[in-house]
Amino acid sequence: GSCAVVVVAAGSGQRLGHGVPKARVPLAGSPMLVHAVRGVLKAGIAAQICVAIPEGDAALASICEQLAAEAATAGVLFTAVDGGAERSASVTAALEVIADGVTNIMIHDAARPLTPSGVFNRVAAALRDGAAAVIPALAVTDTIKTVVPASLPATGAGLEKVVDTPARHQLRAVQTPQGFRLDTLRRAHEYLLTLDAAAAASITDDAMLVEALGEVVFVVQGSTHSLKITTPMDLLLAEAMLAGPLR
Ligand code: CTP
Ligand code: MG
Repeated sequence: GSCAVVVVAAGSGQRLGHGVPKARVPLAGSPMLVHAVRGVLKAGIAAQICVAIPEGDAALASICEQLAAEAATAGVLFTAVDGGAERSASVTAALEVIADGVTNIMIHDAARPLTPSGVFNRVAAALRDGAAAVIPALAVTDTIKTVVPASLPATGAGLEKVVDTPARHQLRAVQTPQGFRLDTLRRAHEYLLTLDAAAAASITDDAMLVEALGEVVFVVQGSTHSLKITTPMDLLLAEAMLAGPLR
């Protein structure tokens, strides 16, 4: 079946702190969105690319016009839509413009501009092999604890305390692109509409919605190159990767 890739780029980039949407922040001289979309084109798995950008962002709209021309050259349909206030709402907006005949969909963060083709290909292969949902992930290297608020006995100073340490060998750090059968993701987003605002805001990826439907979410190998650029430190690392031997 044919595959559409949604690139969500409608966030504001608060934690990066550049004062402009993260998708516009340059990396090795080109906006992050340009790297992300070229990565999708290079992987050769998309019949359609749909980018969700912040409503009214003329700079990103004009970047999308340039990307649409590059996509057309590769025979790929390119669509831009206004995103929403939450990442999940940006995905919902993109779902409304998916072309007829598309059977599989991947949701990818514009904030992951260096995702290698291999990751797209592994996700595509699992979908081809019958998975209704598949996500790329890496084993975690840090030990992860579950914590709750707690006060120090003598002073009442507010800290946190550990309530659990999940077995590290079972934990995975999840990346994008996350791949789904289109009908499965559409059902997941119908379920999202039934949640209250607090529950909806706690949904941090599309796989969480599909898990809630009781569907099996398969996991394929991600890549350290597929890091999400969230903080200035991440941007520094991505610049170094593009400039040097980690390219
Ligand atoms: N995203 C989106 N629409 C939103 C929020 C996020 O399309 N309303 C996208 C971002 O553009 C990004 C991806 O989802 O590509 C991952 O989100 P995140 O890293 O949190 O980006 P921002 O929300 O822009 O950053 P921050 O949370 O620091 O403001
Ligand atoms: Mg965010």
